Amino acid sequence: MTETIAERQSDWSNVQQPGVTVWFTGLSGAGKTTISRAVGNQLKSYGQKLEILDGDVVRLNLCKGLGFSKEDRDENIRRVAFVAGLLTRNQVTVLVSAISPYREIRQEVRERIGNFVEVYVNAPLQVCEQRDVKGLYKKARAGEIKNFTGIDDPYEPPFNPDVECKTDLETVEESVSKVLAKLRELGYVG
Ligand code: PPS
Ligand code: ADP
Ligand code: MG
Repeated sequence: MTETIAERQSDWSNVQQPGVTVWFTGLSGAGKTTISRAVGNQLKSYGQKLEILDGDVVRLNLCKGLGFSKEDRDENIRRVAFVAGLLTRNQVTVLVSAISPYREIRQEVRERIGNFVEVYVNAPLQVCEQRDVKGLYKKARAGEIKNFTGIDDPYEPPFNPDVECKTDLETVEESVSKVLAKLRELGYVG
């Protein structure tokens, strides 16, 4: 049986829970914020050290001024990943919810952080557009927002995510359970 990162780390730090970055990627409206918050609430109730870095929030502070060109999205992701990496190595569970549409940078971040779990929050564009949680799809269709993911900007789905939540077919509770089960399996839940 392959040894998990948590088991390996327990050789040198047998008292502390290892940190991990759980990276939620998916279209706007797919469910990243909803699932990451619910996973966070659950982990907090277990007493786990936790931070959430949500695209909508970091773009108001850490990543203020960045737009949605490929360059700006990549810069956004690199900044978020830098903070996530610092926290991860200090035994924090970091939940990142960002569209992060480009495969290459997600791979780069995975390699840099190491303790990394990728969650593909998957709902068809049509469903996301129907949900239109913030009315952004309507604006994008009307041409009021440019470079909107899924409309006139790309989204590259993961080939091999650690977890896939099909949020058009699952309840929020089912999606949350899947993520928690994977974290437990890998030794990231105390
Ligand atoms: S990225 O691609 O990872 O840099 O994006 P992220 O930092 O997650 O920011 C996505 C949120 O920004 C809002 N928004 C847009 N999303 C996509 N495309 C365009 N053009 C855009 N303009 C604004 C939107 O609220 C996204 O949040 P979510 O939670 O995904 O809906
Ligand atoms: P995102 O952060 O990816 O843009 P949100 O979490 O803001 O998405 O919105 C997702 C919407 O989809 C919410 O209204 C949520 O209640 C709904 N939803 C339905 N099923 C699910 C599910 N299984 N997981 C997550 N969200 C779901
Ligand atoms: Mg969101």
